[in-house]
Amino acid sequence: MKSSSVKELLATAPKLQEVTVNGWVRTFRSNRFIALNDGSTINNIQCVVDFENFGEDILKQINTGSALKISGILVESQGRGQNVEIQVNAIYIHGNADPETYPIQPKKHSLEFLREKAHLRIRTNTFSAVMRVRSALSFAIHQYFTQNDFYNFHAPIITGSDAEGAGEMFKVTTLDSKNPPLTEDGEVNYKEDFFGKETNLTVSGQLEAETYAMALGKVYTFGPTFRAENSNTSRHLAEFWMIEPEMAFYDLDANMDLAEDFIKYVINYVLEHCQDDLQFLEKRLLDEEKSKPQAERSDMPLIEKLKFICENNFRRVTYTEAIDILRNCKPNKKKKFQYIIDEWGADLQSEHERYLVEKHFKCPVILFDYPAKIKAFYMRLNEDGKTVRAMDILFPGIGEIVGGSQREERLDVLKEKIKTLGIDEKELWWYLDLRKFGSAVHSGFGLGFERLVLFATGMGNIRDVIPFPRTPQNAEF
Ligand code: 4AD
Ligand code: MG
Repeated sequence: MKSSSVKELLATAPKLQEVTVNGWVRTFRSNRFIALNDGSTINNIQCVVDFENFGEDILKQINTGSALKISGILVESQGRGQNVEIQVNAIYIHGNADPETYPIQPKKHSLEFLREKAHLRIRTNTFSAVMRVRSALSFAIHQYFTQNDFYNFHAPIITGSDAEGAGEMFKVTTLDSKNPPLTEDGEVNYKEDFFGKETNLTVSGQLEAETYAMALGKVYTFGPTFRAENSNTSRHLAEFWMIEPEMAFYDLDANMDLAEDFIKYVINYVLEHCQDDLQFLEKRLLDEEKSKPQAERSDMPLIEKLKFICENNFRRVTYTEAIDILRNCKPNKKKKFQYIIDEWGADLQSEHERYLVEKHFKCPVILFDYPAKIKAFYMRLNEDGKTVRAMDILFPGIGEIVGGSQREERLDVLKEKIKTLGIDEKELWWYLDLRKFGSAVHSGFGLGFERLVLFATGMGNIRDVIPFPRTPQNAEF
């Protein structure tokens, strides 16, 4: 007999029909009530066992975590909390889980404990809810760009250029680390390496995406990116996923419009499609916040916060305006910030970004026109000669979620910039070619996928929104 998912059964009208379902036991109460979950939804289906019909041997194997196949009759539930339940006729034990050693017992586990059990933590309500929301966001992203006539472009993961400058890179090599071939000057000779040159894991697909935008018009990449920074924070991963749209003939304003519209669309998508999971995550957050001091609690419950994002305009503010606000704000004057802002040109730290978003504007903020000195070489220089057409989107509780810019399309200006930064022009020959042949205004941005998932789920640590996090000193699983 064809089996149904728990999600399907919970949405089915009970007409005493015979059904079969597979799943894992969440709890088994009073030798009578099995709460079965198969991952299709946060909700369990209640399976009612008449224990006289089953041997001791079977009942003993129905433990939290055991995998079962259950057949029975779908009936209206007598108990509260569910509409339907199964009166069990047959139980097949796919695999038992020993209660003495199975770590995921029906009690509250700390997120830190579960990180050590990342291969099993997905069997908890919290992680299954987070990962379903993650999956829905991923789908919504592809849907948004497809509906808006973008083409999906697969950027290379191994790259021969390290000019992007977005972060420290991981080397890719097949050379023997104990005995590498050397040049006459005693340096490692990468000509003998697999690719005949030094290669790394990519920090961003942007430069390659620009080449495709200059032919296909509107493209986006959605792939893994790697940064070997030693930042052990709740916002940084060494391996994370990034969405990078790149559009020909878009200036910075069009770029900001797109980014805002895109974020609202995908958040709205999860509001429409992940209600059960969001409600669970919201309740989880409220419970967690009860133990926090008042000042650290968030002002809005999760779902309200997501709706707020969709319904309100992001505030667009120049870097220069932001510096004025920060210079004169209380925490700066009272030296409460770790990094005091005293001059135009200072790089903003996450404490400043969060002050602007959470305390000053109380809504998402798009900061633009940053000093050229603190931004990447490829950003378009403004008429003032000292700022570039960069934009960062800052989110409450997260800080920077998007970084992007209008790109420098003028060959002479770009060459000059590359020279002052001491970057080797030869390394960027193909990138410069784009400015020689049919160059045009173009723009793009990068959205950190895990930061988006953090925001949408209300989780506090980026390690809990990616299946197997890679961070300094940690690549288990
Ligand atoms: O601001 P970033 O470094 O921008 C770029 O890489 C550009 N090339 C993007 C572009 O214009 N196409 O990174 C973009 C976003 C950040 O805003 C942040 O959300 C995320 O990527 N991000 C990280 N997420 C997790 N862990 C890290 N270590 C991250 N570094 C950046
Ligand atoms: Mg950035």
